[in-house]
Amino acid sequence: MSSPPAPAAWRRHGGNGTGAPPPHSMAPQRPPSPDGASVLADVVVSGGAALAAPIPSPAANGAAAPAGGRGDAAPRGGAPDAALAAARRASAKQLAAAAAFDVEAGVPSLAGPAGGGMSITLQSVSCEVGPRRRPTRILSGVDAFFEAGRLTALMGPSGSGKTTLLDVVAGRRGGGGVSGDVRFGGRPPAPAFLQRFTGYVEQFDTLIPTLTVREMLAYTAALKTSHRAPASDRAAAVEALLGELDLGGCAEVLIGDRLRKGVSGGQAKRVNIGIALIGQPSVLFLDEPTSGLDSTASAEVMAAVARLAAGGVTAVATVHSPTARAYELFDRVLMLLGGRVVYFGETGPPLLSFAGEHLLPLAGPAAAAAGLGPFLAHEAEALASAIAAADRAGAAGALADAFAASPAAAAARGRAGELRARGGGALSGAQAKALGAKCGTVTPWWWAAGVLLRYRTLRNWRDPAFLGPRVADKVVVGALLAALYAGAGANAAFLNVSNQSAFLFMWVALPCFSAAAYMPSLVLERALFARERGDGLYRVATYLGAKMVDELALAAPITLATAAFVWRIVRLLGSFWVFWLTYYITLAVGVAMAYFIAAAAPSMDAANALLPTYCITLLLFAGQLLTFQTRHPAFLYVTSELVKAFAREPSAQAALGPIVAAMAVAAAGELNSLQALSSRPDLADDLFLLAGRTLNYAPTLIVTPQVLPPLLDVALLGCLVQHREACRSVLAFLRSLLHPSDAPAALSSAPAAQALLREQLLRTGPTLARLLLAGAAGALPDARVPDVAEPLGAVLRLAGPQGLAWVSSAVAAVPAAAMERGDQQMFLAAAAVLANAAGDGGDGEQREFEGALFRLADLCRRNARARVSAERALLPAELQGVVV
Ligand SMILES: Nc1ncnc2c1ncn2[C@@H]1O[C@H](COP(=O)(O)OP(=O)(O)OP(=O)(O)O)[C@@H](O)[C@H]1O
Ligand SMILES: [Mg+2]
Repeated sequence: MSSPPAPAAWRRHGGNGTGAPPPHSMAPQRPPSPDGASVLADVVVSGGAALAAPIPSPAANGAAAPAGGRGDAAPRGGAPDAALAAARRASAKQLAAAAAFDVEAGVPSLAGPAGGGMSITLQSVSCEVGPRRRPTRILSGVDAFFEAGRLTALMGPSGSGKTTLLDVVAGRRGGGGVSGDVRFGGRPPAPAFLQRFTGYVEQFDTLIPTLTVREMLAYTAALKTSHRAPASDRAAAVEALLGELDLGGCAEVLIGDRLRKGVSGGQAKRVNIGIALIGQPSVLFLDEPTSGLDSTASAEVMAAVARLAAGGVTAVATVHSPTARAYELFDRVLMLLGGRVVYFGETGPPLLSFAGEHLLPLAGPAAAAAGLGPFLAHEAEALASAIAAADRAGAAGALADAFAASPAAAAARGRAGELRARGGGALSGAQAKALGAKCGTVTPWWWAAGVLLRYRTLRNWRDPAFLGPRVADKVVVGALLAALYAGAGANAAFLNVSNQSAFLFMWVALPCFSAAAYMPSLVLERALFARERGDGLYRVATYLGAKMVDELALAAPITLATAAFVWRIVRLLGSFWVFWLTYYITLAVGVAMAYFIAAAAPSMDAANALLPTYCITLLLFAGQLLTFQTRHPAFLYVTSELVKAFAREPSAQAALGPIVAAMAVAAAGELNSLQALSSRPDLADDLFLLAGRTLNYAPTLIVTPQVLPPLLDVALLGCLVQHREACRSVLAFLRSLLHPSDAPAALSSAPAAQALLREQLLRTGPTLARLLLAGAAGALPDARVPDVAEPLGAVLRLAGPQGLAWVSSAVAAVPAAAMERGDQQMFLAAAAVLANAAGDGGDGEQREFEGALFRLADLCRRNARARVSAERALLPAELQGVVV
């Protein structure tokens, strides 16, 4: 391979080796402006004053110019080039120094490094995406370094991994898949450092469309600089930034978005750069800072970045196809292809040497034939097209391998090793402190909340696009509901109940759809949130709190007005505040869920797909769409309340009858074993509450051949259940069922029901008497004994002599060891008196009988042995030894 011509000598000295004039001046030129000076290069602020600082030409600085930048800069190519580069850096540094705000004079610096930049080293940085089993490598073993006071170009064709590399280095790539070692100043950076002390200009604009350019900068400045700084200083600094970035002309223009046109793409880009400059970043990452800008504007932007670099900031910028002028400002190039490094080193001679030796032969015959001529005319352009040609020719891997084996790569590795080895030793105290920063935000939460309220919440509340969906739906739905159900609340007729419940259901179900309506906009705001979090503007909790205030403080008056209107028209009874709060709380839950889904959904499509799920979930929680077949205890309870409220009315009985029957039979079916009863005491409790209430208010609904037998069977199983509430409900139900002066009295006009009751009593009486006695003798806690006495007395009174026979045979089974015969006789005598009193009131006899039962209970419970033997004798065989 023939070695390339040595271009540096003629190139840097205006010659081309053939005596022809150089293709273009390589001096860092400034674009012409009306007054002959670049705005960015010339307008600098020092204590608030603008001053002109022309960029010195290389000729003016000459080879004698002092070496700019830091002493640890890598050596450049040949001596003349080194001189020129030094001159260039010196001029940029001069400008930067002039451009920095005069901190001494009390003007806060928004564009100066905090404690200076620091070196960044990357060792074997790789990144994989996709499924874990078959991942795709988008970065592969990247070794590089970025030095303080240097501006590095990150180049490569589209999709080569530039943004990914910036994200990895800046700590903005969430999830796994990243490996390798990234160090700032020789140390792994704390996430809080990356948030607070690095600036990142994203490839795609993430701005707040409702703010003007000035407000956008002021908002960021309020969050990114100390809250103790005087507001006037912040405002002055924002004005200075507007001037520097040539945004003065559009300072009052809204940022806008795709639907509401605002600033131009180039202006938006500059606003993004302005945002990254706020907060004195010591490291600046710029992803395509010049895309969307014309050549003049992009040169201005890059000159500003170069000035910052010359002032000590570590700067890395990705660029697609920089103009010659912009390219001149870069100190180094990191060229990626397919996620691998194909060149990393100085621009100019070292790059040309590598290109001539390795790149051109791999880039195809056309490139090889053209030789280095195009490079000499426009290095960046020629480099990009040669890399693209090599890629097309399938030589990406070979090129990366060639670079890895080249002296340039060895030199870069050596330098990176030096920087790493130097570690934190080269850091100032401020830098070392910043690197270990614990808090990612500059301002406290309450300050950030205030700023969010001022710039975003209050702005949203004046924005028709924000207000529209949040107000209109409530007004429209409120008007519709009022029109459909006007007066329904005051109509107490039972048949109107369905209207009332339908209205109330709608009232609590509709707010969830309101919250769903603006979920897409929440998904869109995610990029802005991610960028602002990455910039350390606020904590997540602060943002969420501000968002809730955004939504809920606005919703409060709107829902209050709507609720008052609807309440009046529908003429509801009860508490207005409960009525409003149910709506408002459902809405709040809806908003919270909408935010949750917007945050969790991986894409807009996923968020839209989740919408129905979200609405249905809210519907289920807001209303009563569950049917009684679900046998949820709550529905038994609600039905028992309905029975209490309406069952005395005959028309209501017709409606409630089937509901009560179906629910009772279904629940009894579920409680048909001891195991089921002991695992669902809540269901048993609510079932017998419903049964007891129905007996009291409309006994004919429950004393039916369909309902009573299964209910009695469960009552028999459950009267000894060891659950206080369930046991009480069962015993109370039995008492109501059997008490002659209570429920059955209401059955006097229903002979069929009376006959059924009698039949069931005969069927279950013997077992019931034994179980109740067992409960008194020890199977139930002491406190339940009075609850047992009532139904047992009722059995005696209702069944008369037959009941006495059941009780006698039960008592006879109790062994003498538990209760002596004499005591048994005394108890049976009291039972006989009560049984004979059947038909009349029998209250006195009942009290006598209860006294006798308590004595019997005491006797059986006097010691553990007596209790066990009495209990065992009385309990039916299938219940013995089972704790229900
Ligand atoms: N999460 C991801 N899943 C799959 N592929 C990804 C993912 N992120 C990045 N890539 C792929 O990795 C490659 C590098 O992407 P990156 O955005 O870094 O490219 P780039 O060099 O910045 O391109 P451009 O110049 O177009 O901005 C691309 O091919 C991209 O499609
Ligand atoms: Mg990119």
